[in-house]
Amino acid sequence: MNNSIWRKKPMHMFEQDMQKSELKRVLGKWSLTAIGIGAIIGGGVFVLTGTAAHYHAGPALALSFVIAGIGCIFAALCYAEFAAMLPVEGSAYAYAYGTVGELFAWIIGWGLILEYAMGAMTVAVSWSGYFNKLLHLFGLHLPENLTNDPVTFGGAAVNLPALIIVWFVTWILVKGIKEAASANNLIVVLKVAVILFVIIMGAFYIDVANWTPFIPEETLVEHESGEMLPAYGWGGIISGASAIFFAYIGFDAVSTQAGEAINPKKDMPFAIIASLLICTVLYIAVSLVLTGMMNYKDITGDALKAPVAFAFDQAGQPWAVFIITAAATAGLLSVMLVMMLGQTRVFLGMAKDGLLPKFFAEVHPTFKTPYKSTILVGAVVSLVAGFTPISLLGDMTSFGTLFAFTMVCLAVWILRFRDPNRDRPFKVSGLNIIAPLGILVNTFLILNLGRTAQIFAIAWLLFGLVVYFLYGRPRSLLNTRE
Ligand code: ALA
Repeated sequence: MNNSIWRKKPMHMFEQDMQKSELKRVLGKWSLTAIGIGAIIGGGVFVLTGTAAHYHAGPALALSFVIAGIGCIFAALCYAEFAAMLPVEGSAYAYAYGTVGELFAWIIGWGLILEYAMGAMTVAVSWSGYFNKLLHLFGLHLPENLTNDPVTFGGAAVNLPALIIVWFVTWILVKGIKEAASANNLIVVLKVAVILFVIIMGAFYIDVANWTPFIPEETLVEHESGEMLPAYGWGGIISGASAIFFAYIGFDAVSTQAGEAINPKKDMPFAIIASLLICTVLYIAVSLVLTGMMNYKDITGDALKAPVAFAFDQAGQPWAVFIITAAATAGLLSVMLVMMLGQTRVFLGMAKDGLLPKFFAEVHPTFKTPYKSTILVGAVVSLVAGFTPISLLGDMTSFGTLFAFTMVCLAVWILRFRDPNRDRPFKVSGLNIIAPLGILVNTFLILNLGRTAQIFAIAWLLFGLVVYFLYGRPRSLLNTRE
């Protein structure tokens, strides 16, 4: 029995798992692409653009989006190579298990909880914020103790919209992957339409004077905390890329759907790359429109909270605020849907390998979804979203994602040396440049995240190590299957 933390899951075991999969294979290439877009376009683009333009890059925010997009494309290519080669549930976790070793795989799976479950919690709280804004636009107001967590409110309270929406999403996910994909497709069409509307309509209000100079000279800018921090110039463009990274999170969620894809070897690489490229182009266009409509220096106060809507309001189009708020509300719903979907599929992969209890791998006889795990994830996400000030920890979601990206670049690179002749239905050319660049860019972005998030995320990963040695390792199926 090989008890090393470096033991790997042999490729033939992955193949056996794929053949035994009980999930329904119903997702085609456009549904998979919609899953990517569904997770990517959320609140990020509507909110972070303002902060990043004002405090970091100025009109050159578009270049920040290009840089973060390039970092993501390196990771996306590596994900695509793996997803075609190992189309199994579990995504980055599974890739690492087949290549680097069990301990690494575990830590990545544990890190993905930050991306997917914590991402869903953060997004549920943002959703509640947008939902309230939408109600306000109709003149309706919910009591404060029903729209805030007890800590923020300072007394008995619950963020009821956040709590309820998570249960709604959970219900769709339990009902079936087809139902979830249809709901997602609908929302994706809506939110892409609204983004196109923002770009096309906004283009009429661009004042090119706002773009000059395109890269403002480097200087110090006062942040809300009172701190004076360097901004603009190329340094600002790069820190801006970290600031808006959150907006890109999600394309990797496609890779968790391998078990439900009709033709995973061909369609997964397509969907991962297509969803990222489509969103990159849309994001660059939105950032150009925003910084063209409003001078970056004027994005302060309320404009920082909802810059895109504010820009339209200022341009004398207040009804656009309604459209953007409605789109963000619907848009965040699909982000949550895909994040929770991703989380349950990662757990499914880990449970099949014995590293988590069997409970997480139990598939509903009729719906063919891992319903028990979905309900448990829903319960935890809803409780945290309803009762804690989780939105403060959004950076931890970025940490978990960047960590997984870095590991996937590393793992795909290692496998090229360890198993050069393996059949690779999607083979990245120039991997010897792309993988190390992916590792560098993503590590660099991790180092640029907030200090508190870094400390909490590392504490979470250390806690994961304890669970691995106490639970996962002794129960790993490799103990017996080998
Ligand atoms: N990319 C997603 C968003 O911006 C997480 O909301």
